[in-house]
Amino acid sequence: MKVISSIRTVQNILISLRNKRKTIGLVPTMGAFHEGHLALMRTAKQECDFVVVSLFVNPLQFGPSEDFNRYPRDLARDRTLAKSTGVDLLWTPDAHDIVPPDLATSVDVARVTDRWEGAVRPGHFRGVATIVAKLFQIIKPDIAYFGQKDYQQTVVIRQLIRDLHFDLKMRVMPTVRETDGLAMSSRNQFLSPEGRAAATVLYRALQHAQQLVKKGERHCHYLQKEVESLIKKEPVAKIDYVAFCHPETLEPVDQILGKTVLLMAVKIGSVRLIDNVIVGR
Ligand code: PAJ
Repeated sequence: MKVISSIRTVQNILISLRNKRKTIGLVPTMGAFHEGHLALMRTAKQECDFVVVSLFVNPLQFGPSEDFNRYPRDLARDRTLAKSTGVDLLWTPDAHDIVPPDLATSVDVARVTDRWEGAVRPGHFRGVATIVAKLFQIIKPDIAYFGQKDYQQTVVIRQLIRDLHFDLKMRVMPTVRETDGLAMSSRNQFLSPEGRAAATVLYRALQHAQQLVKKGERHCHYLQKEVESLIKKEPVAKIDYVAFCHPETLEPVDQILGKTVLLMAVKIGSVRLIDNVIVGR
């Protein structure tokens, strides 16, 4: 596995691969790898001839009060993990090349960013869309891999791909969970032992909703109350939002009439966790 920072060097490697008709997979990440990231890498390796993992802690997507400086960074560890999955190139661009001080262009995806994470974290999705557009532009992958864990992010990126005519396929892989159901996240390491135990409430709540829908419950108001009261049984859990939404527009729905996404954000102490599940069909 090559580890390279220079944009130009990476592009030259990719040009020669494309000339040989090799397919290129891209897995965009911010490092601090866990099984969720590694699953994306393994699938990319199965489906593409050459896999690039970008590792860039993107300052544009962190709010002023968020954890940019605290974000876990351990290149030696990430390098070993990426290599173990068969990734071909770990690309670690320098901040001054990707977000120079005179950067003047940004990408704003309207509507699907209005609610949920977009409402709680103003500017977050502008930062994500801007960086992802740059990564697509530089790497020009055939397939790009994302996790369902960040459901709204996948909706935003799908819109970005469509709107800016990026010539690539997007693959969304299922959320990888700990054995007790907690979605893997770089933020889990900030949970206290009590918080870690309480954090399983997100998955328990998602499962509860899924079971009620399977049994025929269709009223989102009722389902939402059920989910919220389950979460409120955990004293350290504080609900940011729980919402049943249209899977593409992310607008709230009243009834489960087809495929619906249940989105939630819950604070466990000071650690903000998100999770989601698809209900209905
Ligand atoms: P990061 O949080 O590092 O996540 C990189 C990719 O891994 C994302 O597509 C995310 O959805 C996926 N992922 C995270 N946890 C997962 C889990 N438990 N199961 C499956 N997939 C999981 O998301 C970002 O970085 C950034 O916003 C980025 C897209 C790189 C732009 O900066």
